[in-house]
Amino acid sequence: MKKNPQTQLIHAPRKAPQYVVTVQPPLYRASTIIFDNTDALFNRHWSDDYDYSYGTHGTPTTFTLGDNITQLEGGQYCLLAPSGLSAIHLVNSCFLSQGDEVWVADNMYGPNLEHLRDLEQRYGVKVQVYNPLDVESFQPSNNTKLLWLEAAGSVTLEFPNLKALVKKAQAHHILTALDNTWGAGLAFNAFDFSDDHLSVDITVHALTKYPSGGADILMGSVVTRDQALHHQLYRSHALQGLSVSGDDVAQIQRSLASMHVRYQAQSQSTLSLLDWLKQQPHFSQVLHPADPDNISHTYWQEICQDGNSAGLVSVVFQEKYSLAEVRGFCDALQLFKLGFSWGGPVSLVMLYHIQQMRSLQHSHLHKGILVRFCIGLEDPADLIADLAQALSVLEAKI
Ligand SMILES: Cc1ncc(COP(=O)(O)O)c(C=O)c1O
Repeated sequence: MKKNPQTQLIHAPRKAPQYVVTVQPPLYRASTIIFDNTDALFNRHWSDDYDYSYGTHGTPTTFTLGDNITQLEGGQYCLLAPSGLSAIHLVNSCFLSQGDEVWVADNMYGPNLEHLRDLEQRYGVKVQVYNPLDVESFQPSNNTKLLWLEAAGSVTLEFPNLKALVKKAQAHHILTALDNTWGAGLAFNAFDFSDDHLSVDITVHALTKYPSGGADILMGSVVTRDQALHHQLYRSHALQGLSVSGDDVAQIQRSLASMHVRYQAQSQSTLSLLDWLKQQPHFSQVLHPADPDNISHTYWQEICQDGNSAGLVSVVFQEKYSLAEVRGFCDALQLFKLGFSWGGPVSLVMLYHIQQMRSLQHSHLHKGILVRFCIGLEDPADLIADLAQALSVLEAKI
């Protein structure tokens, strides 16, 4: 059939042959996915990962990244969401209904707690906060549905008593969801983290951090091992229309190849900064779970047996330093940039009013302004020089 130019431009004659093999998988961008015939249309199964019916349900590109994240984390099934926070929301909205109770660690990623408080006010979900170092502070009731864990907490970096918390949740048939962004599937296996093969039920990962590695893409994942849980999440995911861009997925897929190397390099650089930070008299506390003086060190040590510990370290300034002085320190930094997030190539710094972020009393946290450093891929010697010059600016102003 002869076609007019307008039609010809849309129906391109060349199709990619099967035998062309490239290092990176081909990129599929799709809202519409074309069915071979009406049999294929009527026999589609939305809950099957290898059934392609519409962009929001997945393409070979999204399933390829999903499979890689699943393997990385040791799970079975993966769903991708437009950001780490939307992956968290997916879990909360899928499993929590009116009257249900959810327990959240006091050092959790703040917007998760904020989202849950919103569900509490609007839909009658009850939110309880526990101390991740004290299993006794987690007191589930008959209505408890979900326990949120984070290892380590992303600002004060306490590593939770993961074994005891998961055991207790399992004894009460409570779902466990772990924000796995810090461990990234590399520091420990969330689906098999003890000699007796303890496992969380769900992991959420802000792929925005280490998997992306570029500080330029937002994405999240939800990984499970149980098929029934996955199907519940899959349905909710599809109904909420949580799709991700094929181009963004391809970028993350490309960065995965270097993720292990980057994670280890950032982890090592952070450890070399840790020793230096501990020697500086300006800080009353340096917070990092691999530090033998850290309150949660033994919990970290028993789970992260390869010694990996991500690229985050926080310091608490001596109480005598005012907010204005600490702001002056942050403004004087040259290599460390002021910005949220972590896992990218550029080192970042952020200030926190820790007392305002906590619901419970934590005697182990000193009073003073907390500053968190996210270590990038720069040479650690240059980062130390930058911190030293910013501390001398602070001294000069006093
Ligand atoms: C521990 C943790 N979880 C989840 C998120 C949310 O990820 P995103 O920025 O992709 O929404 C963040 C972001 O900073 C985080 O630090």
